Amino acid sequence: MPQQVISIMANSGGVGKTTLTVNLAYQLAKKGKSVAMFGCDPNGSLTLFCGLDDPPPEKTLDYVLRSEFKGDYPLKPVWREHIKGVDACLGGLPLTNTTQRLVLDKRGAYLLADVLEDHPLPHDVVLIDCPGTIEQLHIAALSASTGVLITLKPEDKDLDAMAKLLEWISTTRSELRLKPAPEVIGIVPNGAKNRAMHRDNLGLSGIEGVIGLPEIMKQMEIPMFPTIKDGAYIANAAAAGLPLGLYRASDPSNQVYAKIAAAIIKEMT
Ligand SMILES: Nc1ncnc2c1ncn2[C@@H]1O[C@H](COP(=O)(O)OP(=O)(O)OP(=O)(O)O)[C@@H](O)[C@H]1O
Ligand SMILES: [Mg+2]
Repeated sequence: MPQQVISIMANSGGVGKTTLTVNLAYQLAKKGKSVAMFGCDPNGSLTLFCGLDDPPPEKTLDYVLRSEFKGDYPLKPVWREHIKGVDACLGGLPLTNTTQRLVLDKRGAYLLADVLEDHPLPHDVVLIDCPGTIEQLHIAALSASTGVLITLKPEDKDLDAMAKLLEWISTTRSELRLKPAPEVIGIVPNGAKNRAMHRDNLGLSGIEGVIGLPEIMKQMEIPMFPTIKDGAYIANAAAAGLPLGLYRASDPSNQVYAKIAAAIIKEMT
């Protein structure tokens, strides 16, 4: 069964990348898959959402991307009292140094891919939680990935940013000559409210002539997952360092996360 390495990206901040990462990890583990989450963001949100403390610099992803790294991944078990199979290699502030090194290193763009090839992880799935703006860490994440998931807030400005991200992915994967090129597994609309702009963008307005995202994505042959609504329990779960499935198992958004997990598992078979 080939390992899936999936980057969670968006060209916007605060649109649910880290939320998707942790909830997907949990749902994959519930389906019996082992998951390593990589915190690829200097903001360190993954640490918080996993209910962990900030690691020292030598226990972060920055260490993994250093020349002295010998395969001793600083993985921390996550939610172990509830579920087995989830680990995290955390990010945070040390990654600001990583970014600089990636620029200077001749193999910078391929560093993460090199590491995963030289020191394979046993996990079924690796989830890479990316930062909110496209930068050097994205290039390293993309070249290591088998697929990309994109979170999207259904606001006009976020749609525009997503279009730019799709263009960047397409250009960058051909510039890097990635073979096989990582595919966009799908778009995950997140944080939808019952507002006209959200309804229009999600193709729910019912007004003739208003073309929503599902139509555009269909034309581009990019799958769209069901929308995750704005919900206080999602934010509360993250603040408690738990996935929604552990914090509030009955929340309907868990079904969306489970559906995305099932789509990833399907790719593996
Ligand atoms: N569907 C949702 N309903 C309510 N709150 C949400 C939802 N999705 C995410 N949040 C909350 O919104 C905030 C931003 O989410 P998150 O950190 O996952 O976004 P991000 O894209 O990773 O942000 P950043 O760019 O800062 O890394 C968090 O407090 C999170 O708990
Ligand atoms: Mg984040």
